[in-house]
Amino acid sequence: MTLPEPGQADSVILRVENLGRSVPGKILVSGATFEVRKGETLAIVGPSGSGKSSLLRLLNRLDEPTTGTVYVDGTDYRQIPPRELRRRIGMVLQRPFLFPGKVAENLQFGPKQRGQNLSPAEIEELLAGVGLSGFESRDVSNLSGGEAQRVSFARALANSPEALLLDEPTSALDEAAKRDVETLIRQIGQEHGIPCVLVTHDVAQAARLAERALVLEGGQIVRSGPVKEALHA
Ligand SMILES: Nc1ncnc2c1ncn2[C@@H]1O[C@H](COP(=O)(O)OP(=O)(O)OP(=O)(O)O)[C@@H](O)[C@H]1O
Ligand SMILES: [Mg+2]
Repeated sequence: MTLPEPGQADSVILRVENLGRSVPGKILVSGATFEVRKGETLAIVGPSGSGKSSLLRLLNRLDEPTTGTVYVDGTDYRQIPPRELRRRIGMVLQRPFLFPGKVAENLQFGPKQRGQNLSPAEIEELLAGVGLSGFESRDVSNLSGGEAQRVSFARALANSPEALLLDEPTSALDEAAKRDVETLIRQIGQEHGIPCVLVTHDVAQAARLAERALVLEGGQIVRSGPVKEALHA
């Protein structure tokens, strides 16, 4: 029998235990327990208002859980300084999140905050990785929606994250741009081994991209498992 090596495909990056959040008069998320493993895409689906974004925001502590916790590579995330945690657990939202200025400046922002400078070659590599070679000097105000979203991914990847949280990352894009971003999400898992937690209302997209899915209703996980089984209903 061979034991898996650390860092292999089945290693757990995020272990989510009984995670929940209530605000006065409302339970947003309760009892969420699941794992996210290296290289996989885990889809979170469910009706509008079921708590998908609320759950995602708990995973990098943008909101504070009122029950439970998350272990990042075995460490309780409450022991990790929030800024470091959000570098390690990156996030991409429905609308591209970019600062005014050049594409390269946007990529440099995160590393600079930690006193690191990306070399021109590193910037070129990040841009090539999202299909935007030669975009270094482009002003972000002139990008198409799909290009801007791919710069958002490159920005997140510039921080060398251990996992990415994606909240409806293609729902503001047209069909062609959506397919490009889907290809990118697949590459992030398969080539870089970075797991993605993908919130989507698009069940077909979840089936295309994810190995496993969680179905949320009323803030609770009502089904989970291999994507086709979890999404059958
Ligand atoms: N801070 C808050 N205080 C009170 N209620 C909130 C708060 N944040 C979210 N909610 C409510 O909690 C529920 C879940 O919201 P959430 O944004 O997580 O849903 P969602 O599944 O992401 O929905 P959508 O698919 O529309 O994006 C909604 O009813 C929302 O109005
Ligand atoms: Mg949402």
